[in-house]
Amino acid sequence: MGGRYPHMLLILILLHGANAAIDAPVEKWQTLDGRPPLVIARGGFSGLFPESSKFAYEFAMTASLPGVVLECDLQLSSDGVGFCRSGLTLDKSTLIAEMYPKKDKTYKLGLEDIHGWFAVDFTSDELINNVTVIQTIFSRPSTFDAMMGMYTLDDMAGLHPQQIWVNVEFDGFYRDHNLDIEDYLLKLPKDYPIAYISSPDISFLKSIGGKLKGRAKLIFRCLADNVTETSVKKSYGEILKDLKSIKAFASGIMVPRNYVWPVNNNLYLLPPTSLVKDAHALGLEVHVGSFANDILTSYNYSYDPAAEYLQFINNPDFTVDGLMTDFPPTASGAVACLAHNEANALASNGERPLIITHNGASGVYAGCTDLAYQ
Ligand SMILES: *[C@@H]1O[C@H](CO)[C@@H](O)[C@H](O)[C@H]1NC(C)=O
Ligand SMILES: *[C@@H]1O[C@H](CO)[C@@H](O)[C@H](O)[C@H]1NC(C)=O
Ligand SMILES: *[C@@H]1O[C@H](CO)[C@@H](O)[C@H](O)[C@H]1NC(C)=O
Repeated sequence: MGGRYPHMLLILILLHGANAAIDAPVEKWQTLDGRPPLVIARGGFSGLFPESSKFAYEFAMTASLPGVVLECDLQLSSDGVGFCRSGLTLDKSTLIAEMYPKKDKTYKLGLEDIHGWFAVDFTSDELINNVTVIQTIFSRPSTFDAMMGMYTLDDMAGLHPQQIWVNVEFDGFYRDHNLDIEDYLLKLPKDYPIAYISSPDISFLKSIGGKLKGRAKLIFRCLADNVTETSVKKSYGEILKDLKSIKAFASGIMVPRNYVWPVNNNLYLLPPTSLVKDAHALGLEVHVGSFANDILTSYNYSYDPAAEYLQFINNPDFTVDGLMTDFPPTASGAVACLAHNEANALASNGERPLIITHNGASGVYAGCTDLAYQ
């Protein structure tokens, strides 16, 4: 048969492989729903490309797990079009100041005066056609700077990600400028796969919660524990002590890393808090962010970003429900390949496989140089 029907044999082998994959035992994750933790790409693959740009979102989708969630920090232009860009001003992450040198403003945000270029002072046409985006973190590649215009939420939805995460940070500011984020979100086409809406603003979450009719999960985004939430006038650290009260207006929380794994002053890990277990006991999801490969968070990880993800998803006590990251391919690798894989970590002779560098770390530095070999 192999001779006359060579393809048949191949198909049989493939079918067998597929069956084996289906029969393989599914690892039990200690997430709230038992599914693998989500990889949430903050502004797409923002570790490499300018955040929330076409390339950042496209590469996040091609280089991550199929279910990668694309995150968008929502801003509105003067004509009410939704753009993805973090922060409140545009001048740090775009070249808007060069294009419109005289359109900077100073506005109040709470009690603070903020100076810069604001989306609310520009039409969507101006932002799409005339304003290009750049990398905000200067140690990251500037290769893709000034190549792409600002990206709208519609553009991003057009890439057909499985799930979208919208973060709303400054609802009150937009209302002061007669723009209504809640209204914008409620009027989005029903087929946009918006799975999560997060905000650090409790009044916003409470207000939109009643109107969403379950179309998206609401996530309370906790800022640093000494920062005060403006609508209830308590610090985020204090609010988190009463998880039951959060359950009343959100399906989950998004917290900085140290809420789960605190570090001491010397950047060594302390024992974990009980936050994830406590929240899961109440039925609240726990997402953690924002991870990045190029920041030092604790020496316990030995400068290995994958080790850090594993600390949050592959420990005996809990798995967080989502990892928000600037480097979604690394988080994807940790979830799909490294977690629950301790038994396979060693080669058959019980030793770690040999890693042979090609001219040193030649992907980062020029090959065969002292930096690459170090
Ligand atoms: C800015 O955009 C508008 C609208 O698309 C266009 O008419 C105008 O020529 C652009 N200005 C510059 C300086 O490119
Ligand atoms: C919060 O704590 C950080 C570091 O511990 C400090 O730098 C910052 O100023 C504090 N912020 C407020 C609002 O107290
Ligand atoms: C982190 O490293 C320190 C120093 O090696 C060690 O004492 C501590 O137990 C480690 N913490 C965790 C959570 O692994």
